[in-house]
Amino acid sequence: MRHYKAATQLLVISMFWPSLAGSILFAAQTGEVRPLEKRVTELLSKMTLEEKVGQMTQITLQAVSKTRGTATQKHEISVEKLRQALTSYHVGSILNVHDVALTLDEWHELITRIQDIATGETRLGVPVIYGIDAIHGANYVVEATLFPQSIALAAARNPELVRKSAEITALEVRAAGIPWNFNPVLGVGRNPLWPRLWETFGEDPYLISVLGEAYIKGLEGEDNDISAGDKVAGCMKHYLGYSLPLSGKDRTPAWIPERMLRDYFLPPFKRAVDAGVHTVMINSSEINGIPVHSDHYLLTQVLREELGFEGFVVSDWQDIERLHTRDRVAASPKEAVRMAVMAGVDMSMVPFDFSFYDHLLALTKEGSVPEARIDEAVARILRVKFALGLFEKPYPNRQLRSHVGSEESANLSLQAAREVMTLLKNDGNFLPLSRQQKVLVSGPTANLRSVLNGGWSYTWQGNEESLYPRDKKTILEAVAEKAGKENVTYFEGASFEEAVNIAEAVDAARSADVAIVCIGEDAYCETPGNIDDLTLPAAQLELVKAIQSTDTPVVLTLVQGRPRVITPVVADAKAILMAYLPGPEGGRAIADVLFGDFNPGGKLPITYPRAPNDLVNYDHKPVEMDDPNKLNPLFQFGHGLSYTQFEFSNLHLSSRRIKPNETLQATVEVANTGERAGDEVAHLFIQDEYGSVSRPVRQLVGFEKVRLAPGESTTVEFIIVPDQLAFHDRNMRFVVEPGTFKVFAGPGASDILEATFEVVVN
Ligand code: BGC
Repeated sequence: MRHYKAATQLLVISMFWPSLAGSILFAAQTGEVRPLEKRVTELLSKMTLEEKVGQMTQITLQAVSKTRGTATQKHEISVEKLRQALTSYHVGSILNVHDVALTLDEWHELITRIQDIATGETRLGVPVIYGIDAIHGANYVVEATLFPQSIALAAARNPELVRKSAEITALEVRAAGIPWNFNPVLGVGRNPLWPRLWETFGEDPYLISVLGEAYIKGLEGEDNDISAGDKVAGCMKHYLGYSLPLSGKDRTPAWIPERMLRDYFLPPFKRAVDAGVHTVMINSSEINGIPVHSDHYLLTQVLREELGFEGFVVSDWQDIERLHTRDRVAASPKEAVRMAVMAGVDMSMVPFDFSFYDHLLALTKEGSVPEARIDEAVARILRVKFALGLFEKPYPNRQLRSHVGSEESANLSLQAAREVMTLLKNDGNFLPLSRQQKVLVSGPTANLRSVLNGGWSYTWQGNEESLYPRDKKTILEAVAEKAGKENVTYFEGASFEEAVNIAEAVDAARSADVAIVCIGEDAYCETPGNIDDLTLPAAQLELVKAIQSTDTPVVLTLVQGRPRVITPVVADAKAILMAYLPGPEGGRAIADVLFGDFNPGGKLPITYPRAPNDLVNYDHKPVEMDDPNKLNPLFQFGHGLSYTQFEFSNLHLSSRRIKPNETLQATVEVANTGERAGDEVAHLFIQDEYGSVSRPVRQLVGFEKVRLAPGESTTVEFIIVPDQLAFHDRNMRFVVEPGTFKVFAGPGASDILEATFEVVVN
């Protein structure tokens, strides 16, 4: 018999959450006596309609450039075009590079030129807000520190590391004179084919929420005081549901029912709003047939009225125009502008021309867009400009320069790269390797720097190898340093797609003690990274198999932004190390782990599929527990081995009966029972035994990383709050339903301790 909980016994939890940090922030002063709000109103009252519409217009640097920057050619601005944009069209924002990272000097020159015109040659002197994608560090500033990409950072399960990396990112972006970063990505990465999976913190909403918040606090500061000279405004993106395209191809339709949108996709954005993030960028694509840029429900009702977001909304690249040219929900480009602005977009990333400006001006003059809506959007933009202190300090701060690319920051990046390393397999403790061995290094990711970094690295695609600093080591170089150059042989064997010299690699393997085969993906970003098959390209699998056909043991190193299927070569691999996109220090970190100088502790932030058509997330439904539907991934979400052993014991709950609005404490002991110091992650999952709608069999509600010496143990404490027990019921109410909940604690998704508690109404 099935027991559903009576609908009358439900506690409805309000989804409305005022943005506390946000309102404090927006009421804050910028050093002037007059309150921010007063300054905004005063300035707005002086602005012409043209000036207002200009503030809502964002163009890309290319639109005001003379010469495109390349690896060998310097970028050049066109002062004439820039002057026209800022004085004739009153443009309020510029973004991006055209097309390579600039040095600090170049950024200073560029930003100074822009602000000279914006503040000196326009009637009201409103400074430009420059925006950039600083996705894993200030990746468009030549001298800056790069970090592991988000998917990798998520494996470290270390919010403090994420916060610190964002803090350094903020400083290095600001040091270039740029006050606004289009990050963090808060999409829930539930389709491993999607080429932007690596920009996410993985497949779990709670993990993303915690790391997203840490990132925002790092960028904007604990109190979100972005007037501080070393902070920038964050931009959570891409709101909402971008990360689950049905086909796995970038910018293609998602079909996400309301319950799933609210239970899985909205929470990280809600948490970010509560954390005071200043801006948001919109999903380029469509959900349930509605392009999100035209969706008043999501952009105004949910974002503003429910979540209480007070910052401004920027469109994604060209996406207003695309409502007409691509999605065909607007019969003309002008109608597209009306739709988007009335849906709730405050700023258009146009980005190449002034069409948005022209259309919006005409629409407002003819009354199709009320001027009150324009005022609302411009006030939101001005608030952020004031909050950033741009009116007082529009120019780059030269003093920050000496902090950029410091040794300390590089050390943090190295520490991060080490902590992300996830040991997926280690037969008979084959790893760590001893140094006195003959090593063959092979595979397409062995001797490139670009592949360790991926997209958003010096260029959009990140595949311009010549732009990478030579002092950072490839995997081959780092391995040679450990094993001694004389002991290491290298044959590429295969490129990403084609066999190169497999026979030579096999020959070399025969006379080696161990073969380290580095496989994975070339650097890519967004739509160019689309694939038709999650399986790793045949040439790479062929290389691994050929080397495995010798008696020499094979260690696989996976350098990739998504979990490419490698099942045919898993059984015969002695060890497998998932490195994700570990950033510039990745080569060193990989060698440190392979040779035992660092004990790996990373945990998968995604489910690693066994087969390309068996793509199920860890928090699957009960029907996926039984044959023939049984979840059967290659490696579970949360999986990751260590060179030491840990034991979990004494899962204890503070109460066995709680009311729907009460919190619960859970504690668990973790002991290092092995011979080496190491990191372990305690994960806490819950399962709502019976629900009015089917509930996931596991749902992450807590994680804590601990570092333990041999023989040491510790108690980890978790607090489960009502929101974590709640979900959207059949009537779309956000409720905690009475009944039994199971609690699981352990290192990952398996080998876990279990306890239960009841939620009771009286
Ligand atoms: C991406 C955004 C990015 C924007 C500006 C778009 O193509 O979808 O994530 O912020 O470009 O570079």
